[in-house]
Amino acid sequence: MILKENITFEEVCGKTFKIRVVEASEYGQAALTHYLHNYQDKESEFYRKEAIQHVKRALEYKYPMVDITSTAAETALQLMLFDFKDDVPFPSPESPKFKFIDLFAGIGGFRIAMQNLGGKCVFSSEWDEQAKKTYKTNFGEVPFGDITKEETKSFIPDNFDILCAGFPCQAFSIAGKRGGFEDTRGTLFFDVADIINRKRPKAVFLENVKGLINHDRGKTLRTILNVLREDLGYYVPDPQIINAKDFGVPQNRERVFIVGFRRDLGINSFEYPKPLSIKLSFSDIKEKEQVSVKYYLSETYLNTLINHKNRHASKGNGFGFEIIQDSGVANALVCGGMGRERNLVVDDRLKDFKPVTRIKGEVNRKGIRRMTPREWARLQGFPDKFIIPVSDASAYKQFGNSVAIPAIQETAKIILKTIGID
Ligand SMILES: C[S@@+](CC[C@H](N)C(=O)[O-])C[C@H]1O[C@@H](n2cnc3c(N)ncnc32)[C@H](O)[C@@H]1O
Repeated sequence: MILKENITFEEVCGKTFKIRVVEASEYGQAALTHYLHNYQDKESEFYRKEAIQHVKRALEYKYPMVDITSTAAETALQLMLFDFKDDVPFPSPESPKFKFIDLFAGIGGFRIAMQNLGGKCVFSSEWDEQAKKTYKTNFGEVPFGDITKEETKSFIPDNFDILCAGFPCQAFSIAGKRGGFEDTRGTLFFDVADIINRKRPKAVFLENVKGLINHDRGKTLRTILNVLREDLGYYVPDPQIINAKDFGVPQNRERVFIVGFRRDLGINSFEYPKPLSIKLSFSDIKEKEQVSVKYYLSETYLNTLINHKNRHASKGNGFGFEIIQDSGVANALVCGGMGRERNLVVDDRLKDFKPVTRIKGEVNRKGIRRMTPREWARLQGFPDKFIIPVSDASAYKQFGNSVAIPAIQETAKIILKTIGID
């Protein structure tokens, strides 16, 4: 069968097709974009079958009167390769030095750090639709979804060097006494461990909230270390708390980093990076231009915050807004609660404002505003070419959930050196 027209990447990854062929989209777009990114490498084999199926469904949608064979779909896929351009802000490196996978990928903080060091991402997984949108816009790849599903795991290729995972810290109670692999079943760490067990990467790089250290009186972390060291056979030095502000961003964000190395590599020492001497303050990343009036708090809301803070002050529970000075360092970005209000700034450049309808009440005359999503991006070390294609609400959530790229990159540099990739 000869099709008169090719089918384009946009047609198979576009919105209309996704909406019309809902059942087709769960693995299809991820498999297709992973295939296109890896077509010159053996990893593409893991994605080929599903990518062809996806193209077949797209052709059937486009040519409803034609009987589409798998061979035709394969031909269309090969034709698509000619047109495929990695013209996104963060393309994969052309001559990669190593390969990694990006689990709980969010918007790709790990990916930028690893790509900066010459790494090629060969698999990504993230189930949040808005985060996937941001990821696709910036990397040209749609992550696979729920990593707890066997089918998702079946797409993970073999022989990558590093597994990266900023996995969410779900409270998990450990049923068994030993604190081993089986005891973590039903948690996301179980899935990370399961993938390490099946694929045996040279190194693993895990990131989590600082609270993991004391969670369940230290039992959760002990179990994680026990599983990595004893069940999986990795050399895992004691985890380290790393603060983003020590690595070139003005954000006080402490996170626990856990690294591990496959024992047969004979590695028995590792030093986490030392704080760098560069110290930035908020003014270094503050918007240069006047920002939209929508980021300024209304007088009414500001008064509510002030009153609330005063009422809670005597209780000493830390509630309230906080204004970060230009010379100061932002509080850790978090996606919920008072996340945004704990990072207010004074910006009196809004000169001639009139009462607006976009926010309730009149804009405060003190010039107090929220930081913008772009400022949050910079606080996490995302370069300005990173595109923010989602609403502000989603963007705050995504940057709050993400990692501080420079701290990840400095640590990854040492991981690479340790496994002999320079
Ligand atoms: C702490 S964030 C990690 C963010 C990421 N490191 C970044 O730089 O943006 C955890 C992410 O895991 C995702 N997630 C949680 N459970 C998941 C699952 N079962 N499968 C895939 N992704 C999941 C969440 O949607 C969230 O984006």
